[in-house]
Amino acid sequence: MSLLSRRVLPLGRRVVLGRAMLSTTSYGSPEAASGMVMPPGFNTQAARRTSLNCPKPEARHHADGGLGKTMPPGFKAHVAELDTFTIPDRVTGSRGDRALGKALVDAWRRDGIIQLSMTDTQRQLWKDAYSASKRFFKKSHGEKAACIDSQSYAGYIGSGEEVTDGIADYSEIFTVTKDLDMSEPRVRAKWPCHGPCPWPDIEMKEPMVRYNENLGAEGEKLLQLTELGLGVAPGSLTQYTRDGWHHTRVLRFPPRYATNGKGKEGRGIGSHTDYGLFVIAAQDDVGGLFIRRPAENEKFANWEKSAAGLKEDADDWYYVPPVDGVHTVILGDMMQYLTRNYLTATPHKVGLNTRERFAYAYFHEPSFQAVLKPLEGGCGGMMQDKTAQTSEGIHYGTHFTNMFMRNYPDRITTKRLLAEDRYSLLSKPELRTMDSIPSL
Ligand SMILES: [Fe+2]
Repeated sequence: MSLLSRRVLPLGRRVVLGRAMLSTTSYGSPEAASGMVMPPGFNTQAARRTSLNCPKPEARHHADGGLGKTMPPGFKAHVAELDTFTIPDRVTGSRGDRALGKALVDAWRRDGIIQLSMTDTQRQLWKDAYSASKRFFKKSHGEKAACIDSQSYAGYIGSGEEVTDGIADYSEIFTVTKDLDMSEPRVRAKWPCHGPCPWPDIEMKEPMVRYNENLGAEGEKLLQLTELGLGVAPGSLTQYTRDGWHHTRVLRFPPRYATNGKGKEGRGIGSHTDYGLFVIAAQDDVGGLFIRRPAENEKFANWEKSAAGLKEDADDWYYVPPVDGVHTVILGDMMQYLTRNYLTATPHKVGLNTRERFAYAYFHEPSFQAVLKPLEGGCGGMMQDKTAQTSEGIHYGTHFTNMFMRNYPDRITTKRLLAEDRYSLLSKPELRTMDSIPSL
């Protein structure tokens, strides 16, 4: 059967099944259902598959099945219709896992973003986290502003406080980083960014901790599948996520016309790339996320020179419409570095819509102490772009600290970090050796 004649579900819900839902060797194509066996590792069917069925921007209201109708006002963009993958309960390295991994890698290389169908458990976890988020952001400014910590970047970030490419963003954020109490050795040793998470209450903490644990397991499976898709040795990526510096950004965006005058009209968050491996996100039904597809003529390396502001006002962005029951996954700087630009970080930005919007972004990250080196081999020698190499590797903790200091120059955490010269600790060997715990 021709791939072009594949059934396309309405509203862009093309569902690509993983091993958990199929006992075949592939991921749900009609070919697999008819018993056709794919070569191990590399799925040429997936590579040929067209995706991001994107009408021209000006035609979006007519040709995108209505998905574009939630696009924030004042933006011109293509409307993305994305493949939706289902991740298996366990990744064993089977032929089906390899085919799925290859399909994921191909989709990221083509579209810069994928959708994963939520399990029933995840739907409930997102629902609970969404309710908790709404409850929190309804609190008075004073109550929210009290949720900060001078040692970690966890806690509340008011609308207008975050700065991207020198311009204030209208997003209102609660950031969750590794929650370490004051007796924890790394906190006592004053490691940058290490400290407690200033939760407002148990009603916020409990559902978000549960959701993050689930997404942490999802992130590990996704890394295993990515290893298979890239054709690199098992553990090539997951070696870096022992005690990973996973964190979360719980986001609220005000309506476009109800802002505080600190930022640029219509801007939720300016164009940027995220810093780690990948970001698994959920969004409500309002809409506001835009991404850029990978492009040969767009080169950036955010760990060397800030990619913030990249093509901010261009009109060739892709709008990612809300789709019920899915997570989206975009890639971060470290995935780009590790794969020598074979997979590139996904530039993205957020526009303000006519209604307030809530989103939840979970960042699956290397250990703070990890020093990453580009992967060897894989993908038939295609990961050969030497321009992405830094001979001594990249220390993730330094990259993370740089990003947060840049985004929050006036935050108490940045001021304390500088005043106590914590930044210089980042070059110490124990901060660059995974699993080492400081002796006090
Ligand atoms: Fe981001």
